[in-house]
Amino acid sequence: MSLLEIEGLTARYGAADVLKGLNLSVGEGEIVALLGANGAGKSTTLRAISGLVPHISGSIKLAGQSLVGMKTEAIVRLGVSHVPEGRRVFPGLTVQENIVLGASNRKGIARAEMVREVDEKFDLFPDLVRLRNALGWTLSGGQLQMVALARGLMAKPRVLLLDEPSLGLAPLIVQQVFRIIAEIRKRGTTVLLVEQNANMALSVADRGYVLETGTLLVQGKPEELWNDPQVRAAYLGGHAKAS
Ligand SMILES: Nc1ncnc2c1ncn2[C@@H]1O[C@H](COP(=O)(O)OP(=O)(O)OP(=O)(O)O)[C@@H](O)[C@H]1O
Ligand SMILES: [Mg+2]
Repeated sequence: MSLLEIEGLTARYGAADVLKGLNLSVGEGEIVALLGANGAGKSTTLRAISGLVPHISGSIKLAGQSLVGMKTEAIVRLGVSHVPEGRRVFPGLTVQENIVLGASNRKGIARAEMVREVDEKFDLFPDLVRLRNALGWTLSGGQLQMVALARGLMAKPRVLLLDEPSLGLAPLIVQQVFRIIAEIRKRGTTVLLVEQNANMALSVADRGYVLETGTLLVQGKPEELWNDPQVRAAYLGGHAKAS
C-alpha cells in the first residue's frame, strides 16, 4: 500500500476544475516529483492534500486513512507537512522562532525539547547555526528556504510536501537544497516534490508525474521521462540528460 494515495482528485476555486481527476501515489520512503508548466495545478494538488482547497472531490488517503474534509491542523497531526511556495518565513521573527513554529501541531512538547530539536535540525542546515537569532527579513533566498525546510521537519512528518524549493535560487544553492532533500529522505521522510526545475527534481526523484492543465500527461521513472520525447521537448530543455 502506498503511503499517500490520490484517486480521481478534482479541485476548483471558482467555476472551472483546476484538477480533473488526478491519480497519484507516493510510496513510503520515495521521493516523487510532480512537474508541469505554470498553472498546471501542481500547487493546487499539494494544497488539496493539506486541506487548503475548499472544493475537491475524489479520494486522498494517508496510510489508508481519508484526509478529505479534514482540517489542515488534523492533516498535519496525521503526518503531512507542507512547505509552501514562497517559503512564508515570518520577517519579524528569528530563525529559531520561525523553525519552532513548525512544531505547533505537537501539543504538550516542552520549550526545552523544541530548542533541542532545532539544534538537531541545524545538523542538516549548518548554514543556519550562526543565524539562529537573525530576523527573517535579513535572510537570503537560500537561507529562507533552509528555514522553511527546517520548520516543515519540526512537525515530524511522514510525508513532506515541497512546493518549488529551488525557485529563485542561484545554481549552487539549488544544488545544496536538492542535496538536503535527498538527505531528508535518507533519514526516513517521504517527499512529494513540486518543481519547475525538472532536471534537478528528476535527479533526486524515484518517480515523476507530469501534469498538464489539471490532468496527468505522463508518469514514470526518471529515465522513462528523460526518454519521452514529449516530456523532453516541453520540460527537460529539449535534450536528454547525459548520464
Ligand atoms: N486561489 C485561487 N483562486 C482562483 N484560481 C486559482 C487560485 N490558485 C490557483 N488558481 C488557478 O488554478 C490553476 C492552477 O494553479 P496552481 O497554482 O495549482 O498551478 P501550478 O502548477 O502550481 O503553477 P505554478 O508553476 O505557476 O506555481 C491556475 O490556472 C491558477 O490561475
Ligand atoms: Mg505552484
